[in-house]
Amino acid sequence: MKNKNAYIGVFDSGAGGLTVVKHIEEMMPNENILYFGDTAHVPYGTKSEKQIKEFSVNDVAFLNGFELKSLVIACNTADSVARETLMKEFDLPIYGVIDPASRKAAEITKNGKIGIMATTATVRSDAYPKRIHRYKPDAEVYSLACPLLVPLVENRRYRKDDQVVTIILKEYLDQLTCHGIDTLVLGCTHYPLLLDAVQSLVPDIQIVSSSYESALALKNSLEKTHQLNDEPGSVRRFYVSDDADAFRENASVFLHEKLGKEVEQVSV
Ligand code: DGL
Repeated sequence: MKNKNAYIGVFDSGAGGLTVVKHIEEMMPNENILYFGDTAHVPYGTKSEKQIKEFSVNDVAFLNGFELKSLVIACNTADSVARETLMKEFDLPIYGVIDPASRKAAEITKNGKIGIMATTATVRSDAYPKRIHRYKPDAEVYSLACPLLVPLVENRRYRKDDQVVTIILKEYLDQLTCHGIDTLVLGCTHYPLLLDAVQSLVPDIQIVSSSYESALALKNSLEKTHQLNDEPGSVRRFYVSDDADAFRENASVFLHEKLGKEVEQVSV
């Protein structure tokens, strides 16, 4: 039995995983959170499988130097490419984003047509179609790599009144809506920032956020196994592999608050 006060370790290639942290904080305010953003190597989504696996192992090895009660792969790219490697290398309860988002999409689609927006590596891995078909074998899944979206969000361009955002999103969304999808998975943890912009362009489509579903699945599991931390006064620490100030800037957008000393740059 793990110590309930131990950290929940969360990692992503950059700031995207903070969308998962935000939901964890809202749903489980007592949890102690340790975050690692591999900002020296973001984006992962355009890299080879080999590199994504190597980076992910290094990220988790760093987090595993602390006392963790569970690990969240808050990165669809790492979850789709490196999950099995991480499960082999580390003896930790590992949670991800692909399974909870797939389950939700399969549950709520009415016409069985589901669109996936994700990074190139996530799309190449076929992780979403495979997982969704476990829950709904007859689903039609249309996946689209959207490589322009992570750099956009990392540069704090995500608002629905931003014309650049609108033009890029429209071009991507048209390639999915032409299939008649009624459900769209935001299959990258950077994308929830674009939620308003996406929803305003496709108001009739149900949107699934992999970040929200991931935090919810974690909460359900910790509740079930009596692992929720019941002591108030949570601690959060953030580590990055590149400039801490740049991450602080981004974090204020993702978390709606300013971070200070709790962000540290480390080499992994
Ligand atoms: N936020 C990550 C994801 O969920 C990674 C994006 C990237 O680094 O390309 O896929």
